[in-house]
Amino acid sequence: MTNIEFLLQRQSTSLLSEPAPNSADLDNILAAGMRVPDHGALKPWHFTVITGQGLVRLSELFVSSSDADTANIEKITKMPFRAPMIIVVSTVLKAHAKIPKQEQLITSGCCAHAMQMACVALGYGAMWRTGDLAYNAKVKQGLGIEQHDQLVGFLYIGTPTRAAVVKPTKVIESSVSYWQ
Ligand SMILES: Cc1cc2nc3c(=O)[nH]c(=O)nc-3n(C[C@H](O)[C@H](O)[C@H](O)COP(=O)(O)O)c2cc1C
Repeated sequence: MTNIEFLLQRQSTSLLSEPAPNSADLDNILAAGMRVPDHGALKPWHFTVITGQGLVRLSELFVSSSDADTANIEKITKMPFRAPMIIVVSTVLKAHAKIPKQEQLITSGCCAHAMQMACVALGYGAMWRTGDLAYNAKVKQGLGIEQHDQLVGFLYIGTPTRAAVVKPTKVIESSVSYWQ
């Protein structure tokens, strides 16, 4: 597959299982996250890599942070186990006269995208998820994220359980205009 074909076929993988990326692959995934466009080289992001017992801790954090009813607690308990690895992407917003926080949030989002692409390039699958718990103050606190920062997403990573069916390309016309 060429680089452009790779980009044009980007998609998420929701069904993920073991194995998670090995240590060398994880290093490359994180390096891809570090390689994003970054105004002023502020590095306004943080990655928390969660595997193994860490997924159990995350599940406990979700449950203790949630005000969901009993039926939903069961669902929430299982959430972190949808993949063998989760990278939590969060912001570390910096005060800067010329670089607004919005740009720092955008660049942190680029990290999640770049790491998803790196996962796929290395033969893994990944899916970016948020949901209510990404905006929950207790979850942020439990993960060591300052309240003035943002939890950008949970990047679920693992090995696809089945061959991907490439989704159709979105219709482009209403999303693009040209000044000529
Ligand atoms: C910031 C952000 C948060 C997202 N949160 C969720 C989520 O909580 N649950 C979900 O099913 N998809 C979520 N998605 C969408 C998926 O990651 C995915 O992009 C979507 O299902 C479309 O699939 P595709 O990536 O294969 O086109 C989120 C995407 C972004 C960019």
